[in-house]
Amino acid sequence: MLDAKTIEIIKSTVPVLEVHGQTITKQFYETMFKNHPELLNVFNHANQRQGKQPTALANAVYAAAAHIDRLEEILPVVKGIAQKHRALGILPEQYPIVGENLLAAIKMVLGDAATDEIIEAWGQAYGVIADVFISVEAEMYQAAEQQPGGWRGFRRFVVDRKVKESDVITSFYLKPEDGKEIANYVPGQYITVRVKPEGQAFTHLRHYSLSTSPGHAYYRISVKREEAIADKPAGIVSTYLHDAVQERDILELSAPAGEFTLELEPSSQHPVVLISGGVGLTPMVSMLETLLEQNPAHDVVYIHAARNGSQHAMRAHIHQLTEAHPSLRSYVVYEAPAAGESCDKNGYIDLPWLQTVADSNADFYFCGPTPFMQAVNRALKQWGVPAERIHFEFFGPADSLD
Ligand SMILES: Cc1cc2nc3c(=O)[nH]c(=O)nc-3n(C[C@H](O)[C@H](O)[C@H](O)COP(=O)(O)OP(=O)(O)OC[C@H]3O[C@@H](n4cnc5c(N)ncnc54)[C@H](O)[C@@H]3O)c2cc1C
Ligand code: HEM
Repeated sequence: MLDAKTIEIIKSTVPVLEVHGQTITKQFYETMFKNHPELLNVFNHANQRQGKQPTALANAVYAAAAHIDRLEEILPVVKGIAQKHRALGILPEQYPIVGENLLAAIKMVLGDAATDEIIEAWGQAYGVIADVFISVEAEMYQAAEQQPGGWRGFRRFVVDRKVKESDVITSFYLKPEDGKEIANYVPGQYITVRVKPEGQAFTHLRHYSLSTSPGHAYYRISVKREEAIADKPAGIVSTYLHDAVQERDILELSAPAGEFTLELEPSSQHPVVLISGGVGLTPMVSMLETLLEQNPAHDVVYIHAARNGSQHAMRAHIHQLTEAHPSLRSYVVYEAPAAGESCDKNGYIDLPWLQTVADSNADFYFCGPTPFMQAVNRALKQWGVPAERIHFEFFGPADSLD
């Protein structure tokens, strides 16, 4: 427990952190990777270069500092981060490394303003925050391992089938090499793949949402190939999966994780609206299949936005589901349809159109590129949909939709 003085110091230095937060975290990563290059095996290098991870960490540190005397209030946020940490295999012994390097960075950036008292207070506060993460993650490791078909760390899976879904998306059907049972999951959850492509000095870990309903003898992920464009290099893992990984190859996976899940009370009267942009369809297809299997009379709307027909994945599958289930209505939005291609809406999803196909009383789930999610979120808020019925997932470090 922190004393009143320490709490006061922490709270009064939050505004300073807000000014220097990102500089501190940037400095922190630089020093940490210099001292502990082995951590480059777990951190996403692209997120580092684009500053996404420093921002996410800085936001988490502000939130934790501002709530230092009532950390239970940010427990839902902690759980979301802890799910990612557990999926990546982050261990308790790594927390002091982060703590030490974070304090060193605070000292370096703040200079004389970082008095011994402030550094001491932050050291204590970091210890309290780290303990919360460590204990939440310990429970998650245990739950992941002890569930039927569960495991700790990474398990070897064979690529049983590789199926092209569109010009840019390919599905991988993954079966455990040991032939034993696999852990169940809730639609919306992801698994984490660990690979070491030839020529790469480090392992690379990426999360991929499971793209079918649970209950099969395999996991399926569907991966978009991140091409090199202009000054952006090609994505490391997605191009490796598309180009190098073949049927019968082995991929290492950690057990399903994630807090973005379809939460449907059997008695719920609210329709469900699933909205996806591009490869953001993966958790939506899992949710849709599950809903149709478990609650076939429940009113559901599936809206998918793609650039055009050649990038539209799983079109035939959704068409079949729509034909077979009167409770399902599905719509296609093409940003730039090719000549002769038909869709339900040209351009982008907007509120006037959304109002013609969905009901504001629904539970909304969405996923896609950040600008897409910002537009959908804005439209739903404008429509008056309450926050508790708006659910979304970022395919990268959590960001802001406002
Ligand atoms: C919960 C969750 C679920 C996800 N589910 C899916 C899914 O179902 N399907 C899916 O395809 N993806 C999914 N993702 C995204 C996935 O984890 C990867 O981020 C994605 O495949 C890209 O990884 P990569 O290694 O190919 O690209 P990276 O190498 O990580 O690069 C990412 C992007 O950054 C760009 N980049 C790299 N370096 C620079 C630089 N210096 N300057 C500018 N740009 C740069 C690259 O061009 C690329 O576009 C999910 C992510 C999360 C967090
Ligand atoms: C109290 C301490 C910590 C806090 C507040 C924290 C916070 C965060 C946050 C906010 C994210 C982004 C989550 C997202 O994707 O939405 C994250 C991701 C991550 N964290 Fe932590 N973290 C802490 C400790 C650690 C430790 C000890 C390690 C291991 C050395 C670690 C490794 C990672 C990695 C590898 C990611 C994924 C990010 C990426 O690769 O881009 N974290 N953390």
